[in-house]
Amino acid sequence: MTDVYYDPYDYDIDSDPHSVWKRMRDDAPVYRNEKFDFYALSRFHDVMTASLDTKTFSSAYGTVLELMTDEPGDSPMMIFLDAPKHTQLRKLVSRAFSPRRISQLETNIRKVAAGYLDPLVGRSEFDYLQDFGAKLPVMVISALLGVPEEDREQIRVWTDSMLHREEGKTNTDRAHADVSANLWGYFGRYVESRRRNPQDDMISALMSAEIDLPDGSKRRLENVELLAFIGLLSGAGNETVARFLGWTCTLLDRHPDQRAALVAEPSLIPNAVEEILRYEAPSPVQGRRTTCEIELHGSVIPKAGKVLLLTGSAGRDEREYPEADRFDVTRAIDRHVALGYGTHFCLGASLARMEARIAIEETLIRFPEWEVRWDETERVHTSTVRGYHRVPVRV
Ligand code: HEM
Repeated sequence: MTDVYYDPYDYDIDSDPHSVWKRMRDDAPVYRNEKFDFYALSRFHDVMTASLDTKTFSSAYGTVLELMTDEPGDSPMMIFLDAPKHTQLRKLVSRAFSPRRISQLETNIRKVAAGYLDPLVGRSEFDYLQDFGAKLPVMVISALLGVPEEDREQIRVWTDSMLHREEGKTNTDRAHADVSANLWGYFGRYVESRRRNPQDDMISALMSAEIDLPDGSKRRLENVELLAFIGLLSGAGNETVARFLGWTCTLLDRHPDQRAALVAEPSLIPNAVEEILRYEAPSPVQGRRTTCEIELHGSVIPKAGKVLLLTGSAGRDEREYPEADRFDVTRAIDRHVALGYGTHFCLGASLARMEARIAIEETLIRFPEWEVRWDETERVHTSTVRGYHRVPVRV
């Protein structure tokens, strides 16, 4: 028996979970939390194997611990679906999410990044996340969707206030409902206008694509499904990238030799992106429910057990990565699970990687050095993403 304790809601554990995760990997590879009624897998191999075994580890009951249901849901969002519905949707959206469409965004992403970073040059202090890292991803998703440039800043402001949470307050107040109505009203009209007048953009491509149904017939996506997809992209692609950039800024401050190496050799940046993802996963916990009883490492997880796959812990597993706690932008990384693994592997992975690379390149060109003002940093505490909300720096 071990007395290790882990839950994803504990602020103290969340601020530095690595020693707890290490004890779980070593002493409790099938960890059980009675209070919140879940199991957790923390070793790289177990997280990877469970991610691949979607028949046993289902996403259809929800993947966020506190939102899991007792019956499989019928979500329009593929992240909460199993085969065959997941397969149908994923096949369809992957076509619209083509490498061509993603690579076309490179120039635009660089322009947006430069537009936020240039005005910061010459200042002695700024907030890397509030002034840059949290703004960039919302603009990128708008560009991906094909939202006209003149509307993107408004979308960003609305999305920002949707994501904003006062400590201890829920989001059900009137102002929040108004912003949500504005944002979804905008996207509702946007989808209608693309129905009437298709363009060369992702939403128009999704409208014309057809889902192959099991009986051999085909159908097109309805407006409500398109809106759910927009919601999924903004939910999955904004906070994660912002948290990633917070980790980038703080890790490179703590490891100035690694930062200097990237300044001297920018071709190392793509590998640095993988190392940052491995070292501090922005989305460290993926929930599943078991569809049958399973035995693992001598423990039994019952049918309908809630299981947390700790992708954040898997990245520090010494069984997979030599000297796993050493941050090294030149490390050879064959694989990691920070973007998920298998069926639900991050749909936006190539976009996220490109966005991360450009953000780091454009930052280091302008700011080869900085100093984080640690006592003014702020963290976000949610059960889905982990990282910083504010990272004030002195340059
Ligand atoms: C550094 C940034 C990102 C991280 C760390 C990240 C992480 C992840 C992870 C761990 C999953 C798997 C979830 C699971 O297994 O249940 C996932 C899925 C997904 N991600 Fe990302 N993501 C990032 C950026 C993005 C972006 C930019 C987009 C879209 C523009 C995106 C869209 C999605 C979608 C749609 C899924 C669901 C895929 C499916 O269910 O088949 N992500 N992501």
